[in-house]
Amino acid sequence: MATTEENPLLEGLLLRRTPDPCAMVIFGASGDLTHKKLFPALYSLAYRRLLPDRFGVVGVARSESTDDEFREDMKEAVQRYSRDEFREDVWEKLAGGMRWVGTDFADEGGEDRIAEVLNELDQERDTQGNRVYYLAVPPVAFKTIVEAIGKRRSTEGWTRLIVEKPFGYDLASARELNELLTRDFKESEIFRIDHYLGKETVQNMLALRFSNGIFEPIWNRQFVDHIQITVAESIGIEGRAAYYERAGAIRDIFQNHLLQLLALTAMEPPIDFTADSVRNEKVKVLKSIHTPGPKSVVRGQYGRGFIEGEEVPGYREEPGVAPDSMTETYVAAKVYVDNWRWADTPFYVRMGKRLARRETTIAIQFKRAPHPPFEETAEEGLRPNVLLVHVQPDEGVSLAIGAKVPGQGMRIRTVHMDFLYGGTFRTGMPEAYERLILDCLVGDATLFTRADEIEEQWLLVDAIVAAWKRDRPSFPNYAAGTWGPPSADDLIHRDGRSWRRH
Ligand code: BG6
Repeated sequence: MATTEENPLLEGLLLRRTPDPCAMVIFGASGDLTHKKLFPALYSLAYRRLLPDRFGVVGVARSESTDDEFREDMKEAVQRYSRDEFREDVWEKLAGGMRWVGTDFADEGGEDRIAEVLNELDQERDTQGNRVYYLAVPPVAFKTIVEAIGKRRSTEGWTRLIVEKPFGYDLASARELNELLTRDFKESEIFRIDHYLGKETVQNMLALRFSNGIFEPIWNRQFVDHIQITVAESIGIEGRAAYYERAGAIRDIFQNHLLQLLALTAMEPPIDFTADSVRNEKVKVLKSIHTPGPKSVVRGQYGRGFIEGEEVPGYREEPGVAPDSMTETYVAAKVYVDNWRWADTPFYVRMGKRLARRETTIAIQFKRAPHPPFEETAEEGLRPNVLLVHVQPDEGVSLAIGAKVPGQGMRIRTVHMDFLYGGTFRTGMPEAYERLILDCLVGDATLFTRADEIEEQWLLVDAIVAAWKRDRPSFPNYAAGTWGPPSADDLIHRDGRSWRRH
Protein backbone atom coordinates (compact mmCIF):
# COMPACT_ATOMS: atom_id res chain seq x y z
CA MET A 1 0.00 0.00 0.00
CA ALA A 2 1.25 3.50 -0.79
CA THR A 3 2.22 5.62 2.20
CA THR A 4 1.59 9.31 2.82
CA GLU A 5 5.28 9.83 2.09
CA GLU A 6 4.76 8.57 -1.45
CA ASN A 7 1.39 10.16 -1.95
CA PRO A 8 0.53 13.20 0.15
CA LEU A 9 -3.03 13.08 -1.16
CA LEU A 10 -3.59 10.02 0.99
CA GLU A 11 -3.06 12.05 4.11
CA GLY A 12 -6.63 13.23 4.22
CA LEU A 13 -7.97 9.70 3.93
CA LEU A 14 -5.69 8.27 6.57
CA LEU A 15 -6.07 11.05 9.08
CA ARG A 16 -9.80 10.57 9.47
CA ARG A 17 -10.05 14.09 10.81
CA THR A 18 -12.25 15.64 8.17
CA PRO A 19 -13.79 18.74 9.65
CA ASP A 20 -17.50 19.55 9.59
CA PRO A 21 -18.79 21.76 6.80
CA CYS A 22 -18.11 25.37 7.79
CA ALA A 23 -17.39 28.94 6.74
CA MET A 24 -14.29 30.84 7.78
CA VAL A 25 -14.36 34.61 8.12
CA ILE A 26 -10.94 36.24 7.98
CA PHE A 27 -10.82 39.73 9.46
CA GLY A 28 -7.73 41.45 8.11
CA ALA A 29 -7.92 39.67 4.77
CA SER A 30 -5.86 42.28 2.91
CA GLY A 31 -2.92 41.91 5.30
CA ASP A 32 0.43 40.18 5.03
CA LEU A 33 -0.52 37.23 7.21
CA THR A 34 -3.46 36.32 4.98
CA HIS A 35 -1.30 36.50 1.85
CA LYS A 36 1.81 34.81 3.15
CA LYS A 37 0.45 32.27 5.59
CA LEU A 38 -3.33 31.80 5.77
CA PHE A 39 -4.22 31.32 2.12
CA PRO A 40 -1.17 29.24 1.28
CA ALA A 41 -2.11 27.06 4.28
CA LEU A 42 -5.75 26.77 3.18
CA TYR A 43 -4.58 25.84 -0.30
CA SER A 44 -2.20 23.17 1.02
CA LEU A 45 -5.01 21.72 3.12
CA ALA A 46 -7.29 21.72 0.06
CA TYR A 47 -4.50 20.10 -1.96
CA ARG A 48 -4.40 17.21 0.50
CA ARG A 49 -8.20 17.02 0.66
CA LEU A 50 -8.14 17.96 4.32
CA LEU A 51 -10.73 20.71 4.06
CA PRO A 52 -14.39 19.83 4.21
CA ASP A 53 -16.11 19.57 0.83
CA ARG A 54 -18.62 22.14 1.95
CA PHE A 55 -16.44 25.11 2.83
CA GLY A 56 -16.36 28.86 2.29
CA VAL A 57 -14.06 31.77 3.14
CA VAL A 58 -15.22 35.33 3.66
CA GLY A 59 -12.44 37.90 3.43
CA VAL A 60 -13.11 41.05 5.44
CA ALA A 61 -11.04 44.24 5.36
CA ARG A 62 -11.48 47.97 4.92
CA SER A 63 -10.82 48.10 1.21
CA GLU A 64 -13.69 47.81 -1.23
CA SER A 65 -13.10 44.87 -3.51
CA THR A 66 -15.11 42.32 -5.45
CA ASP A 67 -15.24 38.58 -4.86
CA ASP A 68 -13.29 38.10 -8.08
CA GLU A 69 -10.61 40.59 -7.14
CA PHE A 70 -10.23 38.82 -3.79
CA ARG A 71 -9.90 35.48 -5.60
CA GLU A 72 -7.32 36.86 -8.01
CA ASP A 73 -5.29 38.45 -5.22
CA MET A 74 -5.25 35.22 -3.18
CA LYS A 75 -4.49 33.10 -6.22
CA GLU A 76 -1.33 35.13 -6.74
CA ALA A 77 -0.47 34.80 -3.06
CA VAL A 78 -0.89 31.03 -3.21
CA GLN A 79 1.19 30.77 -6.38
CA ARG A 80 3.89 32.81 -4.73
CA TYR A 81 3.98 31.44 -1.20
CA SER A 82 2.51 27.94 -1.19
CA ARG A 83 4.80 24.97 -0.61
CA ASP A 84 2.77 22.94 -3.09
CA GLU A 85 2.56 22.99 -6.87
CA PHE A 86 -0.35 25.11 -8.12
CA ARG A 87 -3.23 23.06 -9.44
CA GLU A 88 -6.09 24.84 -11.13
CA ASP A 89 -8.67 22.19 -10.07
CA VAL A 90 -7.72 22.47 -6.39
CA TRP A 91 -7.79 26.25 -6.57
CA GLU A 92 -11.11 26.45 -8.39
CA LYS A 93 -12.79 24.40 -5.71
CA LEU A 94 -11.50 26.65 -2.95
CA ALA A 95 -12.13 29.83 -4.93
CA GLY A 96 -15.77 28.89 -5.53
CA GLY A 97 -16.51 29.47 -1.85
CA MET A 98 -14.65 32.79 -1.54
CA ARG A 99 -16.50 36.04 -0.84
CA TRP A 100 -15.39 39.56 0.01
CA VAL A 101 -16.88 42.11 2.41
CA GLY A 102 -15.30 45.57 2.61
CA THR A 103 -15.97 47.22 5.97
CA ASP A 104 -14.03 49.03 8.67
CA PHE A 105 -15.64 46.71 11.26
CA ALA A 106 -17.15 49.64 13.11
CA ASP A 107 -20.53 49.89 11.43
CA GLU A 108 -23.65 47.80 11.69
CA GLY A 109 -23.90 47.87 7.88
CA GLY A 110 -20.69 45.86 7.64
CA GLU A 111 -21.93 43.38 10.22
CA ASP A 112 -25.16 42.98 8.25
CA ARG A 113 -23.27 42.28 5.07
CA ILE A 114 -21.07 39.65 6.70
CA ALA A 115 -24.18 37.98 8.13
CA GLU A 116 -25.86 38.02 4.71
CA VAL A 117 -22.86 36.51 2.98
CA LEU A 118 -22.62 33.80 5.62
CA ASN A 119 -26.29 32.98 5.13
CA GLU A 120 -25.69 32.75 1.40
CA LEU A 121 -22.83 30.34 1.99
CA ASP A 122 -25.07 28.25 4.23
CA GLN A 123 -27.56 28.06 1.36
CA GLU A 124 -25.17 27.67 -1.55
CA ARG A 125 -22.48 25.53 0.02
CA ASP A 126 -24.37 23.98 2.90
CA THR A 127 -21.94 25.23 5.54
CA GLN A 128 -24.59 24.52 8.16
CA GLY A 129 -24.14 27.56 10.38
CA ASN A 130 -20.67 26.44 11.50
CA ARG A 131 -18.31 29.39 11.73
CA VAL A 132 -14.62 30.06 12.29
CA TYR A 133 -13.77 33.71 12.81
CA TYR A 134 -10.10 34.49 12.27
CA LEU A 135 -8.90 37.72 13.89
CA ALA A 136 -5.83 38.66 11.85
CA VAL A 137 -6.15 42.34 12.79
CA PRO A 138 -4.26 44.73 15.07
CA PRO A 139 -5.41 44.56 18.72
CA VAL A 140 -7.23 47.92 18.53
CA ALA A 141 -9.82 46.30 16.30
CA PHE A 142 -10.41 43.23 18.51
CA LYS A 143 -13.07 44.66 20.78
CA THR A 144 -15.45 45.85 18.08
CA ILE A 145 -15.15 42.62 16.15
CA VAL A 146 -15.44 40.26 19.11
CA GLU A 147 -18.49 42.08 20.43
CA ALA A 148 -20.13 42.04 17.01
CA ILE A 149 -19.51 38.31 16.56
CA GLY A 150 -20.77 37.61 20.07
CA LYS A 151 -23.93 39.60 19.46
CA ARG A 152 -24.72 37.85 16.22
CA ARG A 153 -23.37 34.39 16.80
CA SER A 154 -25.12 31.76 14.80
CA THR A 155 -27.81 29.82 16.63
CA GLU A 156 -27.18 26.82 14.45
CA GLY A 157 -23.90 24.91 14.36
CA TRP A 158 -20.72 25.79 16.21
CA THR A 159 -18.69 29.01 16.42
CA ARG A 160 -14.93 29.21 16.97
CA LEU A 161 -12.59 32.16 17.20
CA ILE A 162 -8.92 32.20 16.19
CA VAL A 163 -7.03 35.06 17.78
CA GLU A 164 -3.66 36.12 16.38
CA LYS A 165 -0.88 37.61 18.42
CA PRO A 166 -0.12 40.03 19.96
CA PHE A 167 -2.47 38.88 22.70
CA GLY A 168 -2.34 42.00 24.84
CA TYR A 169 0.54 44.28 25.68
CA ASP A 170 0.88 43.36 29.34
CA LEU A 171 -0.95 41.32 31.96
CA ALA A 172 -3.71 43.89 32.45
CA SER A 173 -4.54 44.17 28.74
CA ALA A 174 -4.33 40.39 28.24
CA ARG A 175 -6.76 39.88 31.12
CA GLU A 176 -9.10 42.45 29.62
CA LEU A 177 -8.96 40.63 26.33
CA ASN A 178 -9.60 37.28 28.01
CA GLU A 179 -12.60 38.78 29.79
CA LEU A 180 -13.92 40.21 26.56
CA LEU A 181 -13.58 36.87 24.80
CA THR A 182 -15.09 34.80 27.57
CA ARG A 183 -18.16 37.05 27.83
CA ASP A 184 -19.67 35.45 24.74
CA PHE A 185 -17.45 32.44 24.11
CA LYS A 186 -16.40 29.38 26.07
CA GLU A 187 -12.69 28.67 26.47
CA SER A 188 -13.12 25.64 24.19
CA GLU A 189 -14.30 28.00 21.42
CA ILE A 190 -11.24 30.28 21.67
CA PHE A 191 -8.07 29.40 19.76
CA ARG A 192 -5.15 31.70 20.66
CA ILE A 193 -2.40 31.27 18.11
CA ASP A 194 1.23 30.77 18.91
CA HIS A 195 2.40 29.55 15.54
CA TYR A 196 5.49 27.89 17.06
CA LEU A 197 3.19 25.21 18.48
CA GLY A 198 2.15 24.33 14.94
CA LYS A 199 5.74 23.61 13.89
CA GLU A 200 6.45 19.92 13.38
CA THR A 201 9.73 20.07 15.23
CA VAL A 202 8.14 21.71 18.23
CA GLN A 203 5.56 18.94 18.42
CA ASN A 204 8.42 16.50 17.98
CA MET A 205 9.71 17.62 21.36
CA LEU A 206 6.68 15.86 22.82
CA ALA A 207 7.22 12.79 20.62
CA LEU A 208 10.89 12.66 21.52
CA ARG A 209 10.29 12.95 25.24
CA PHE A 210 7.18 10.89 25.68
CA SER A 211 7.41 8.13 23.09
CA ASN A 212 10.95 7.08 24.00
CA GLY A 213 11.70 5.29 27.21
CA ILE A 214 15.33 6.34 27.31
CA PHE A 215 15.07 10.11 27.71
CA GLU A 216 12.59 10.67 30.52
CA PRO A 217 14.69 9.03 33.26
CA ILE A 218 17.57 11.41 32.58
CA TRP A 219 15.46 14.49 31.78
CA ASN A 220 15.99 16.20 35.11
CA ARG A 221 18.35 18.08 37.42
CA GLN A 222 20.25 14.95 38.30
CA PHE A 223 21.55 14.40 34.78
CA VAL A 224 21.06 17.70 32.99
CA ASP A 225 23.65 20.39 33.57
CA HIS A 226 21.70 23.15 31.85
CA ILE A 227 19.44 23.90 28.92
CA GLN A 228 19.93 26.49 26.18
CA ILE A 229 17.12 27.77 23.99
CA THR A 230 17.98 29.99 21.05
CA VAL A 231 15.56 31.80 18.75
CA ALA A 232 17.89 33.66 16.40
CA GLU A 233 16.78 35.52 13.32
CA SER A 234 18.91 37.18 10.69
CA ILE A 235 16.04 39.32 9.42
CA GLY A 236 15.34 42.74 10.88
CA ILE A 237 11.92 44.16 11.61
CA GLU A 238 10.74 43.98 8.01
CA GLY A 239 8.85 47.26 7.90
CA ARG A 240 6.92 46.56 11.10
CA ALA A 241 8.32 49.49 13.10
CA ALA A 242 4.96 50.64 14.43
CA TYR A 243 4.37 47.25 16.03
CA TYR A 244 7.94 46.42 16.98
CA GLU A 245 8.77 49.74 18.63
CA ARG A 246 6.10 48.96 21.22
CA ALA A 247 6.78 45.25 21.45
CA GLY A 248 10.53 44.68 21.38
CA ALA A 249 12.02 41.21 21.56
CA ILE A 250 10.55 40.56 25.00
CA ARG A 251 6.94 40.85 23.84
CA ASP A 252 7.52 39.67 20.28
CA ILE A 253 9.33 36.41 21.02
CA PHE A 254 10.03 35.85 24.72
CA GLN A 255 6.45 36.26 25.92
CA ASN A 256 5.09 33.66 23.54
CA HIS A 257 7.32 31.47 21.35
CA LEU A 258 10.26 31.27 23.72
CA LEU A 259 8.22 30.52 26.83
CA GLN A 260 6.22 27.90 24.97
CA LEU A 261 9.43 26.15 23.87
CA LEU A 262 10.62 26.26 27.45
CA ALA A 263 7.33 24.91 28.78
CA LEU A 264 7.36 21.96 26.34
CA THR A 265 10.95 21.16 27.28
CA ALA A 266 10.36 21.32 31.02
CA MET A 267 6.81 19.97 31.44
CA GLU A 268 5.85 16.73 33.14
CA PRO A 269 4.40 13.94 30.99
CA PRO A 270 0.69 14.66 30.41
CA ILE A 271 -1.68 11.78 31.11
CA ASP A 272 -2.96 11.97 27.54
CA PHE A 273 -2.64 14.17 24.50
CA THR A 274 -5.78 16.19 25.01
CA ALA A 275 -5.98 19.96 25.15
CA ASP A 276 -6.51 20.17 28.87
CA SER A 277 -3.96 17.56 29.91
CA VAL A 278 -1.18 19.11 27.83
CA ARG A 279 -2.02 22.67 28.80
CA ASN A 280 -2.35 21.81 32.49
CA GLU A 281 1.24 20.58 32.47
CA LYS A 282 2.55 23.58 30.54
CA VAL A 283 0.88 26.05 32.83
CA LYS A 284 2.48 24.38 35.85
CA VAL A 285 5.90 25.06 34.33
CA LEU A 286 5.02 28.67 33.58
CA LYS A 287 3.87 29.13 37.16
CA SER A 288 7.13 27.65 38.45
CA ILE A 289 9.41 30.02 36.58
CA HIS A 290 11.29 32.18 38.99
CA THR A 291 11.40 35.84 37.90
CA PRO A 292 15.02 36.42 36.91
CA GLY A 293 16.81 39.25 38.72
CA PRO A 294 18.19 42.20 36.72
CA LYS A 295 21.65 40.61 36.53
CA SER A 296 20.16 37.57 34.85
CA VAL A 297 18.59 39.45 31.95
CA VAL A 298 20.49 41.19 29.16
CA ARG A 299 19.01 43.51 26.55
CA GLY A 300 20.47 44.42 23.22
CA GLN A 301 19.75 46.51 20.17
CA TYR A 302 21.49 46.06 16.83
CA GLY A 303 23.54 48.68 15.11
CA ARG A 304 24.64 48.72 11.53
CA GLY A 305 26.44 45.62 10.31
CA PHE A 306 26.68 42.92 7.69
CA ILE A 307 24.35 40.00 7.02
CA GLU A 308 25.69 37.52 4.49
CA GLY A 309 28.09 40.10 3.15
CA GLU A 310 25.50 42.79 2.71
CA GLU A 311 25.51 45.95 4.78
CA VAL A 312 22.27 46.49 6.73
CA PRO A 313 21.13 49.53 8.73
CA GLY A 314 21.02 49.68 12.50
CA TYR A 315 17.67 49.39 14.27
CA ARG A 316 17.49 53.13 14.93
CA GLU A 317 17.96 53.76 11.21
CA GLU A 318 15.03 51.56 10.18
CA PRO A 319 12.09 53.52 8.71
CA GLY A 320 9.58 54.43 11.41
CA VAL A 321 11.97 53.82 14.33
CA ALA A 322 12.82 56.72 16.66
CA PRO A 323 16.48 57.78 16.32
CA ASP A 324 16.90 57.39 20.09
CA SER A 325 14.70 54.29 20.42
CA MET A 326 15.30 52.20 23.52
CA THR A 327 13.42 49.19 22.14
CA GLU A 328 15.36 45.96 22.56
CA THR A 329 15.89 43.69 19.58
CA TYR A 330 17.73 41.06 21.63
CA VAL A 331 17.16 39.46 25.01
CA ALA A 332 19.19 36.84 26.84
CA ALA A 333 18.23 35.53 30.24
CA LYS A 334 18.95 32.86 32.79
CA VAL A 335 15.78 31.48 34.26
CA TYR A 336 15.03 28.79 36.80
CA VAL A 337 12.05 26.51 36.95
CA ASP A 338 11.45 25.99 40.63
CA ASN A 339 10.17 22.45 40.91
CA TRP A 340 11.51 19.04 41.89
CA ARG A 341 12.56 18.15 38.38
CA TRP A 342 14.49 21.31 37.58
CA ALA A 343 15.51 23.11 40.79
CA ASP A 344 18.97 24.75 40.35
CA THR A 345 19.18 23.80 36.66
CA PRO A 346 19.60 26.98 34.61
CA PHE A 347 17.70 27.55 31.40
CA TYR A 348 19.74 30.01 29.34
CA VAL A 349 17.56 31.57 26.68
CA ARG A 350 18.36 34.09 23.98
CA MET A 351 16.52 35.59 21.07
CA GLY A 352 17.19 38.41 18.69
CA LYS A 353 16.84 40.06 15.32
CA ARG A 354 19.70 40.59 12.88
CA LEU A 355 21.83 37.88 14.43
CA ALA A 356 24.42 35.99 12.42
CA ARG A 357 21.92 33.49 11.09
CA ARG A 358 18.46 32.04 11.48
CA GLU A 359 18.45 29.28 14.01
CA THR A 360 15.97 27.97 16.56
CA THR A 361 17.37 25.23 18.76
CA ILE A 362 16.82 23.63 22.13
CA ALA A 363 19.99 22.16 23.57
CA ILE A 364 19.87 19.83 26.57
CA GLN A 365 23.39 19.71 27.92
CA PHE A 366 24.03 16.74 30.19
CA LYS A 367 26.52 16.52 33.03
CA ARG A 368 29.91 15.05 32.32
CA ALA A 369 30.55 11.37 32.98
CA PRO A 370 31.30 11.06 36.70
CA HIS A 371 34.62 9.26 36.41
CA PRO A 372 36.27 8.88 33.05
CA PRO A 373 38.91 6.17 33.41
CA PHE A 374 41.08 7.58 30.60
CA GLU A 375 44.14 9.77 30.79
CA GLU A 376 43.34 13.47 30.76
CA THR A 377 44.87 14.00 27.34
CA ALA A 378 42.61 11.30 25.85
CA GLU A 379 39.62 13.54 26.37
CA GLU A 380 40.98 16.85 25.17
CA GLY A 381 38.36 18.34 22.94
CA LEU A 382 35.60 16.11 24.28
CA ARG A 383 32.48 18.08 25.11
CA PRO A 384 29.67 16.96 27.40
CA ASN A 385 26.72 15.12 25.83
CA VAL A 386 24.20 17.42 24.24
CA LEU A 387 20.84 16.53 22.82
CA LEU A 388 20.13 19.20 20.27
CA VAL A 389 16.67 19.75 18.86
CA HIS A 390 16.88 21.72 15.63
CA VAL A 391 13.53 23.45 15.42
CA GLN A 392 14.58 25.29 12.26
CA PRO A 393 16.21 25.29 9.78
CA ASP A 394 17.82 21.82 9.14
CA GLU A 395 14.99 20.31 11.16
CA GLY A 396 16.06 17.31 13.17
CA VAL A 397 17.64 16.04 16.35
CA SER A 398 21.27 15.42 17.05
CA LEU A 399 23.04 13.77 19.97
CA ALA A 400 26.63 14.66 20.73
CA ILE A 401 28.57 11.74 22.18
CA GLY A 402 32.21 10.87 22.79
CA ALA A 403 33.75 8.30 20.42
CA LYS A 404 37.17 6.81 20.06
CA VAL A 405 39.26 8.21 17.25
CA PRO A 406 40.49 5.26 15.17
CA GLY A 407 44.14 4.40 15.69
CA GLN A 408 46.52 3.21 18.34
CA GLY A 409 45.99 4.49 21.85
CA MET A 410 42.90 6.10 23.30
CA ARG A 411 41.81 9.44 21.94
CA ILE A 412 38.21 10.49 22.35
CA ARG A 413 36.38 13.11 20.36
CA THR A 414 32.85 14.47 20.15
CA VAL A 415 30.80 13.04 17.28
CA HIS A 416 27.14 13.46 16.36
CA MET A 417 24.31 11.02 15.85
CA ASP A 418 21.91 12.87 13.60
CA PHE A 419 18.30 12.48 12.63
CA LEU A 420 17.34 14.85 9.84
CA TYR A 421 13.70 15.22 8.83
CA GLY A 422 14.68 15.90 5.23
CA GLY A 423 16.69 12.69 4.91
CA THR A 424 14.33 10.41 6.81
CA PHE A 425 10.86 11.39 5.68
CA ARG A 426 10.20 12.09 2.06
CA THR A 427 7.18 14.30 2.68
CA GLY A 428 7.76 18.04 2.86
CA MET A 429 7.26 19.73 6.21
CA PRO A 430 3.78 21.17 6.64
CA GLU A 431 3.60 24.83 7.52
CA ALA A 432 2.59 25.60 11.10
CA TYR A 433 -0.57 27.35 9.92
CA GLU A 434 -1.83 24.29 8.08
CA ARG A 435 -1.76 22.26 11.26
CA LEU A 436 -3.28 25.01 13.37
CA ILE A 437 -6.12 25.86 10.99
CA LEU A 438 -7.03 22.20 10.62
CA ASP A 439 -6.92 21.66 14.38
CA CYS A 440 -9.30 24.55 14.86
CA LEU A 441 -11.65 23.23 12.18
CA VAL A 442 -11.86 19.92 14.03
CA GLY A 443 -12.12 21.68 17.41
CA ASP A 444 -8.81 20.49 18.86
CA ALA A 445 -7.24 23.21 21.02
CA THR A 446 -4.18 21.24 22.21
CA LEU A 447 -1.76 23.37 20.20
CA PHE A 448 -3.33 26.69 21.16
CA THR A 449 -2.58 28.77 24.23
CA ARG A 450 -5.10 28.76 27.06
CA ALA A 451 -6.06 31.94 28.95
CA ASP A 452 -4.13 30.99 32.09
CA GLU A 453 -0.96 30.25 30.12
CA ILE A 454 -1.08 33.63 28.43
CA GLU A 455 -1.57 35.37 31.75
CA GLU A 456 1.36 33.53 33.39
CA GLN A 457 3.54 34.48 30.42
CA TRP A 458 2.63 38.14 30.82
CA LEU A 459 3.17 38.07 34.57
CA LEU A 460 6.78 37.14 33.98
CA VAL A 461 7.26 39.66 31.19
CA ASP A 462 5.74 42.47 33.26
CA ALA A 463 8.18 41.74 36.10
CA ILE A 464 11.17 41.81 33.76
CA VAL A 465 10.04 44.98 32.01
CA ALA A 466 9.38 46.71 35.34
CA ALA A 467 12.99 46.07 36.38
CA TRP A 468 14.21 47.55 33.08
CA LYS A 469 12.77 50.93 33.98
CA ARG A 470 15.61 51.38 36.47
CA ASP A 471 18.47 51.53 33.99
CA ARG A 472 19.22 52.65 30.51
CA PRO A 473 21.63 50.48 28.57
CA SER A 474 23.73 52.11 25.94
CA PHE A 475 22.20 51.13 22.62
CA PRO A 476 23.10 49.98 20.04
CA ASN A 477 25.26 47.35 21.71
CA TYR A 478 25.70 44.71 19.04
CA ALA A 479 26.40 44.89 15.35
CA ALA A 480 23.97 43.30 12.91
CA GLY A 481 25.31 39.92 11.82
CA THR A 482 26.92 39.04 15.18
CA TRP A 483 25.63 36.86 18.02
CA GLY A 484 24.41 39.67 20.27
CA PRO A 485 25.96 41.96 22.88
CA PRO A 486 29.09 40.97 24.83
CA SER A 487 27.08 41.24 28.05
CA ALA A 488 25.12 38.15 26.93
CA ASP A 489 28.40 36.23 26.93
CA ASP A 490 29.21 37.54 30.40
CA LEU A 491 25.81 36.33 31.61
CA ILE A 492 26.69 32.71 30.88
CA HIS A 493 30.48 32.89 31.35
CA ARG A 494 29.92 33.97 34.96
CA ASP A 495 28.60 30.45 35.58
CA GLY A 496 31.59 28.82 33.90
CA ARG A 497 29.53 27.92 30.83
CA SER A 498 29.25 29.28 27.32
CA TRP A 499 26.68 29.64 24.57
CA ARG A 500 26.64 26.80 22.16
CA ARG A 501 28.91 27.50 19.22
CA HIS A 502 27.42 27.51 15.80
C1 BG6 B 1 6.51 36.25 14.85
C2 BG6 B 1 7.21 37.52 15.22
O1 BG6 B 1 5.61 35.86 15.84
O2 BG6 B 1 7.47 35.23 14.66
C3 BG6 B 1 8.23 37.90 14.17
O3 BG6 B 1 6.26 38.56 15.36
C4 BG6 B 1 9.17 36.76 13.92
O4 BG6 B 1 8.96 39.06 14.58
C5 BG6 B 1 8.40 35.48 13.64
O5 BG6 B 1 9.99 37.10 12.81
C6 BG6 B 1 9.33 34.29 13.55
O6 BG6 B 1 8.62 33.19 13.07
P1 BG6 B 1 9.35 32.02 12.29
O7 BG6 B 1 8.27 31.01 12.07
O8 BG6 B 1 9.91 32.60 11.05
O9 BG6 B 1 10.43 31.53 13.21
